[in-house]
Amino acid sequence: MNTIDKLLGRMTVAEKLGQMTMTSASYAVTGPVIAGDSTESIRNGTLGNLLNLVGAKHVHEMQRIAVDESRLGIPLMIGFDVIHGHRTIFPVPLGEAATFEPRLWELTAREAARETAADGLAMTFAPMLDVSRDLRWGRTVEGPGEDPWLAVQIARAKVRGFQGADLAQADSVAATAKHFCAYGPVMGGRDYASVDISERTLREVHLPAFAAAVDAGVASIMPAFTELGGIPLTMHKALLRDYLRGELGFDGVIVSDYNAIRELIHHGVAGDIVEAATLALKAGVDIDMMAEAYRHGLPVALERGLVTIAEIDECVLRVLRLKERLGLFDDPYRRGSTAEAAEAIAARRRLAREAATKSLVLAKNSGGTLPLRKDLRRVCVIGPLATAWREMRGPWAAAGYEEPSITVLAGLRSALPSAEIVHAEGTAISGTDTSGIAAAAELVADSDAVVLCLGEAAEMSGEAASRSSPELPGEQRALVEAVLDRAARAKVPVVVVLFSGRPLIVSRLMERADAVLIAWFPGTEAGNAIADVLTGRASPSGRTPVTWPRALGQIPIFYSQRNSGRPENPQDHFTSKYLDLPNTPLLPFGFGLSYGRFSYANLTVSPESARASDTIEVAVEVTNQGARAAEETVFLFIRDRVASVARPLLELKGFTKISLGAGETGTARLRLPVEELRFLGLDFEPVLEPGDVEIHVGPCADPAQLLSSRVLLRV
Ligand code: BGC
Repeated sequence: MNTIDKLLGRMTVAEKLGQMTMTSASYAVTGPVIAGDSTESIRNGTLGNLLNLVGAKHVHEMQRIAVDESRLGIPLMIGFDVIHGHRTIFPVPLGEAATFEPRLWELTAREAARETAADGLAMTFAPMLDVSRDLRWGRTVEGPGEDPWLAVQIARAKVRGFQGADLAQADSVAATAKHFCAYGPVMGGRDYASVDISERTLREVHLPAFAAAVDAGVASIMPAFTELGGIPLTMHKALLRDYLRGELGFDGVIVSDYNAIRELIHHGVAGDIVEAATLALKAGVDIDMMAEAYRHGLPVALERGLVTIAEIDECVLRVLRLKERLGLFDDPYRRGSTAEAAEAIAARRRLAREAATKSLVLAKNSGGTLPLRKDLRRVCVIGPLATAWREMRGPWAAAGYEEPSITVLAGLRSALPSAEIVHAEGTAISGTDTSGIAAAAELVADSDAVVLCLGEAAEMSGEAASRSSPELPGEQRALVEAVLDRAARAKVPVVVVLFSGRPLIVSRLMERADAVLIAWFPGTEAGNAIADVLTGRASPSGRTPVTWPRALGQIPIFYSQRNSGRPENPQDHFTSKYLDLPNTPLLPFGFGLSYGRFSYANLTVSPESARASDTIEVAVEVTNQGARAAEETVFLFIRDRVASVARPLLELKGFTKISLGAGETGTARLRLPVEELRFLGLDFEPVLEPGDVEIHVGPCADPAQLLSSRVLLRV
C-alpha cells in the first residue's frame, strides 16, 4: 500500500469531505482575510483546499496550520484565477490568441506560473478553453476565440506553460481546463443561460480543446456552470465520467465551478443540497468549490444510502494524488520560499511588452496613416481610454501589481519625446455627459495627428458581463463623430485605438477613421506596446481570432459556416442572405494588416495524392511588396467539398509566420498530416474519406484572398 492509500485508511468521513471542499479566503489584494471558521476547519482537518488567498506569507501560515496543527497534517491546495498573468498582466486571452504565436502562449503561462508559485500558490483555474461565436457573451474575452483548431493549439501551449516539465517544481502550478464544456453558446449570449447545440457541434467545436488539454496532461478540469440540453455540466455523467474519464482517460481532479453544486437546485435537477451533492459526486466531481454541498450534503446522502464511501474515496484519492504530484507532501512551502531575481522580473516585463505588441491588430490603415511620422509636431490624444490605466489590464487581473499599467498617453509621450502631446478625455467610457466633446474636438484643429482611444471598460466583458448591443458605450459615438468631422475639415488624420474584450459593432467607425488599431486589453505594458506600433518601432502582426460582424444581426458569424443548399447569390432571391446586409463580415477571421504589403504566389502541395500516414507539405511564395520589413501570418485552411457529412466552407489546419524585408520574397512552409483531415462521420466516428480535399492558403479566412490547390486522398 502506498502512502496515499495508507493515509486514506486513517481518514474520518469528515476529513475526507474536507479534502473534497474548497472555500474562499475572502480575497483582498492587500492581504487575505481568512474567515475564522475556515482557519478552524483547516486546523481540525475538515477543509483541504482554498481559493483566493495570495501572498506567500499568508499561504505559508495557512499551510503551517494544516500541516502542523491538523491531525493528519495534509497540506492545503490553494488555487487562484490566473487568467492572463498574475502580478504582471499580459494581454487578455482573446488578445493573446491574436498573436498566433504558440511560443508566446506557452511563455506567458510559464511566467504567470512563476509569479503564481512565488505567491505560494499551487493551482490555477486556467486556461479557459471555451470557443465563442457570440460576441454578446462577455466571457469571449477569456477564451481562444471562434476556432476549435486554434483552441487546441492554445490548450496545449497553456498546459505546458503552467505545469512546466514537472508539476512538483517550485515554479509549476496545476492548470485547470475550463469551463467544460460548450459554455460559449449560451442562449442570447447571456452568461449562465441554457445551451442547446447539436452533438456534432459539441464534438467538432467544443470538445477538441479539452481533449488536447487532457492529452497534454492537464491536472484539473472545471465543469461549466451551464446546462447542456437540460443536463447541468456539474452533474453530467455522460460527459464527465463516460467521456472525460472513460474515453479520454482523464485521471486528474474535477473541481466544480463557484457554488455550482448548490446551483443544481436552481437548475431544477436537485431538490436540496443532499441531492445536489449526490448528483455531482455520481458524475465524478472531486472538489466542491464554495457550495458547502459535500460537507453538508454527503453525510446525509451516505446515511440514506444514496452514495457509498467508495465513491467518496475515489475523489479523495484523486485530490491527494494531485497534492502529491504537486510536491505538497514533500515540502508544502516550496512555492514562495525564494525571492525572484530582479532580472527575472524585468525579463517578464519585456515579455509582457512583446505579447502586448503582437496582440495588436491593425484593422485599417488608409493612405499609410500609420506609422506616425517621427517629426510630428503636435499629437492630440483624445478619448476616455487614453489615460485609463486600470482598464488596460482587462478583466481578471485580480492580483495585478498595484502600480499603474502604462497608458496610451504615457506610452506616446515616451515614444515621441520631441512632439507636443495634448490630451482631452472628451467623454467618459459610459454615461451621458457630452459636455467635454466640443472642446476635445477643437484640440484637433492645430494637430498633426489624432489618436482617439475608445472602447469598453474592462468590466464590460468577462464573467456576468454580456452585452445585448456591443457598440461603443456611452457617448463615445458622439465623440467620434465630432472629432472626425473636425479632423476632416482640418485635414488631420485620425487613428483610432479600440479597446474591447470582444468584437464591437463599429462599421461606421471603421469606414470613417483613417486607421484603426484593435488593442483588446493589452495588460501592464499596454501604452508602450501601442506606442511601439503607432510609431513604427514594431510592425503590427496580430490577427483577429474572431470574426467581426458588420451588424449585430449577423451573429453568430464565424468563418467555418457550412455552405447550405442555397448559398448566397445576389442574383437569386431565394438564396441564403439578408435583404439589408451582405453576408460577409466587417473583418474576417485572421485579418490583420502590417506595415508590409504581402502578395502570395506559387502554392504547391506535395504529394498531390496522399495516404493516411502521409504528411502533406504545403509551400507558398510570399513577397513583401511594401517599403518596410514586416511579419506575415500565413494560414492554411482546408475544404472537403464532398463528404458523407456536410463540411464547413473552410477549416483552419495550420498557420506559420514569415518575416520579410522590403521587396523580399520568401517561402512559407506548412505541414499538414493527413490525419488532420479526419472528421466525424455519420456515426460520429473519425473517418478519412477518399477523394479530393481543397487546400487554401493566404492571409485570412476571406476566400477571395486565398490561393487554392487540392490533394487527392487515397484511403
Ligand atoms: C468562474 C470561474 C472561476 C471561479 C473561481 C467562477 O465564477 O466561472 O471561471 O475560476 O469563479 O474564481
